[in-house]
Amino acid sequence: MTTTRPAPVDAATGFVRLRVEAVDPLTADAVAVTFAVPDEHREAFRFAPGQHLTLRRVVDGQDLRRTYSVCSSAAGGPLRVAVKRLDGGAFSTWVADALRPGDELEVLPPAGRFGPRPDPARARRYGLVAAGSGITPVLSIAATVLDVEPASEVVLVYGNRTSADVMFLEELADLKDRHPERLQVLHVLSREEQESELLSGRIDRARLERLLTTLVPVDDVDEWYLCGPFGMVTEGRSTLLDAGVEASRVHVELFHADPPPPRQRATGPAGDAATVTVSLHGRSTTLAVERDGESILDRVLATRSDAPYACKGGVCGTCRARVVEGAVSMDVNYALEPDELAAGVVLTCQARPTTGTVRLEYL
Ligand SMILES: Cc1cc2nc3c(=O)[nH]c(=O)nc-3n(C[C@H](O)[C@H](O)[C@H](O)COP(=O)(O)OP(=O)(O)OC[C@H]3O[C@@H](n4cnc5c(N)ncnc54)[C@H](O)[C@@H]3O)c2cc1C
Ligand code: FES
Repeated sequence: MTTTRPAPVDAATGFVRLRVEAVDPLTADAVAVTFAVPDEHREAFRFAPGQHLTLRRVVDGQDLRRTYSVCSSAAGGPLRVAVKRLDGGAFSTWVADALRPGDELEVLPPAGRFGPRPDPARARRYGLVAAGSGITPVLSIAATVLDVEPASEVVLVYGNRTSADVMFLEELADLKDRHPERLQVLHVLSREEQESELLSGRIDRARLERLLTTLVPVDDVDEWYLCGPFGMVTEGRSTLLDAGVEASRVHVELFHADPPPPRQRATGPAGDAATVTVSLHGRSTTLAVERDGESILDRVLATRSDAPYACKGGVCGTCRARVVEGAVSMDVNYALEPDELAAGVVLTCQARPTTGTVRLEYL
């Protein structure tokens, strides 16, 4: 359902206030949130499978931003995310406990490059591996591919502790009913015995290796998409690469990574700062940025509140910009693909200048 009421845009940050249409429980600790998209923002909020939204909430003057993957089919599905409550989590507990239909939330249009761009002429087999809330972008990929590519097939390996923890149990069963020949779902449960010993346990290297030689032969799969906890995703990726899958066919999405150890402060001369110019929303700003001080993003935010960001941890990719002059170094990068790095794209939340002059264009 849509509304025609204009949704205000925050000109300084690009956030749009969207009305929450529905909040539906998925499990004891996860809810799906559906947004109403007014006609004038329909184009901006058109999403591709695997993309995510940044949601914002200001609490006691603190700007809380979190990223949530769209979980519905990009072929006509609603704008819907699913949030799993994290104990002590500032944003997810509020969404799970307090958000109600009719509330408004500030939302950035969809972003991210995790999923495929479906093509009706294509016949492919997609291998999807997810654990816990990592199902959200993966469900969108599965639903979209099955809707748009009539000759493609999907095999989903989905790990959870127990069947009560499985998000989208009904949606997955419905999807299977609609595409019985083209969708295979393998539920792997770590704290609940299943008939098959192969599907009882965690999705670790040993189990994935066995799955690749039995139920999901690696040569049958054209593209792999992995999303879940850091350990599962990194181990899953290396298992696939060791099994001979080309790196360009393995796509990963992380929701969280522990921050790296604190940086050592500069030992260089005081005032060892570079001149950094950023182009953003059609306007350029030049600032001095210390080579070993705050990140370029934090320096930019001091004067440009419209600089995009969410996690500040190198995970979500919201802060990406292209280096058009000079060079920067990044502490970590969990968001950019090799082709983006080759094109000079960097995460400004992780970037510090390594040359005296740097020019960046936000994407
Ligand atoms: C690209 C992307 C897509 C995402 N999609 C989804 C999604 O579809 N559904 C969803 O529920 N979440 C998703 N997330 C995670 C989400 O953005 C938040 O990180 C999560 O909801 C926790 O926020 P919080 O404010 O509740 O916790 P915080 O208050 O930020 O953190 C509380 C504590 O938990 C740790 N922590 C934070 N996030 C995680 C995590 N994901 N796993 C383990 N520990 C964590 C923190 O270090 C901190 O110690 C996504 C993240 C990214 C980067
Ligand atoms: S803000 Fe998330 S990667 Fe920079």
